[in-house]
Parts: sequence; C-alpha cells; structure tokens
Amino acid sequence: MTKLLTLLRTFPNARIIPSAFYPVGLLWLSASVTLAGDLAPVALPAPRVTSGKPLMQALQDRQTTRELDRRALTDQVLGDLLWAGFGVNRPGNGHRTAPSAMNSQEVDLYVARADGLFVYDAPGHRLSTVTGEDVRGRISGQAFAKEAPVVLVYVANLAKLTKAKPERKSFYAAIDVGCVVQNIYLYCASENLGTVVFDLDRPPLTEVLRLKPDQEIILAQAVGYPLK
Ligand SMILES: Cc1cc2nc3c(=O)[nH]c(=O)nc-3n(C[C@H](O)[C@H](O)[C@H](O)COP(=O)(O)O)c2cc1C
Repeated sequence: MTKLLTLLRTFPNARIIPSAFYPVGLLWLSASVTLAGDLAPVALPAPRVTSGKPLMQALQDRQTTRELDRRALTDQVLGDLLWAGFGVNRPGNGHRTAPSAMNSQEVDLYVARADGLFVYDAPGHRLSTVTGEDVRGRISGQAFAKEAPVVLVYVANLAKLTKAKPERKSFYAAIDVGCVVQNIYLYCASENLGTVVFDLDRPPLTEVLRLKPDQEIILAQAVGYPLK
C-alpha cells in the first residue's frame, strides 16, 4: 500500500481501476494517454513592465513580418508578450491590458508551440496545457504558421458575453480580439520581434484545439524573431 501511495504521488494522473476481472486493482498510468489538462500549469516569469521602447517609437516600428526564424522565445519573452496582449494590469479589479465589451474578458489566447498547445491563464499569469502535441502545422497552410516558434489562436468564449444581445456577440468578440492583436503588434515592435495576424480555416481547428460549442475561433497571430 505504501508503494502504491508513493506511485500515486509520483504520477498524479494515475487511476485505480477496481475490476472484477483482476484479482487486485489495476494501476493505470494515464499521463501519456489523455488528461493533459490535469498537468501542472507552466508558470511564467513576472512581466517586465518597465522594458521596451517608448510607445511612439513602437508605433513607428509596428509592421507585419511574415518571414520568421524558428528560434524559440524564452519564457520571459513569452510571458511579457502574453501579458502585453491580454494580461491582468490591475490586480485589484482584475481588469486587463486590452479592453473588452462590458469587461466580458471572453477572449482566450491559445499558444501553439513545438512542445504543445496551451491556454494563457491571465489571472495566474501561467500556461495551462491542452495537449503535448505540436499543432502548428494544422492551424493554417500559410508557411509562417508552421515555422513561427509561437502561434497564438484567439478564441472567444461567447458564453461570457452575458450582457450582449445574441446577434451582437460575434461582433463584440471580433472587436475585442482586434484590441489584443494590436497590443501584440506593439509589444513585438517594442522588442524587435516579428509578427503577422492571419485568418484561418476554422472548422477543422475546433477539433484540434478541443473547443466547446460556445467557443468561437476568431483569428491567429504568429510571433518570432524576424529572419532579416
Ligand atoms: C483581420 C486581418 C486578417 C489578416 N489576414 C492575413 C492573412 O491571412 N495572411 C497574411 O499574410 N496577412 C494577413 N493580415 C495582415 C495584413 O495583410 C497586413 O496587416 C497588411 O498587409 C498591412 O501590413 P502592415 O501590418 O505591415 O501594416 C491580416 C490582417 C488583418 C487585420
């Protein structure tokens, strides 16, 4: 029994299957099968809120860059990028770096990297794991989606737009994503990163991202160091 408890502590995703077919319960180590959501969140370093170029210079430098190096972003840069995009900038009231209609905060930033797919948990400033699979090649046929070290997919949870009329929800979600997109553009300009916002083929992606019915894919944005 002690050994069993040690095993369960070591593999938190382990499941005991009581079964009439086995003389003793079968310990099933499910970590590699599913349940990526059960994995511990990936903590991100606190954002460096005093770094970067002055705003006017970042605006001067903002541009779309489609040729991106495959070099990975550090956790610090990724954390800063996500915080700039839609992080919590007023912990006292939970408001964010981008506005949202009626403060619905319905936009989730999915982060696709070589080591898996994650969702940015803004209040915790960390990544929750969706899957360990590299899905970048399935997001778009456009080359930068496969090559960029980070591809953000903007997903709106329409169920969070509780105060909006049903026919206006997608409209508000699109506007709210646009605000985040520009924050990411400005952060990239400020840090000499390249970025391109792009449209995508939504229906196949719903399954790839493991979305629920109320979640609507709005746009995507690739980020990486410019090749030139
Ligand atoms: C809603 C939206 C969708 C876009 N979709 C794509 C796309 O699918 N592929 C692409 O290469 N660029 C895409 N872009 C980037 C634009 O082509 C780019 O912003 C435009 O050419 C102006 O260039 P600039 O951003 O350097 O000013 C998109 C931009 C927006 C706002």
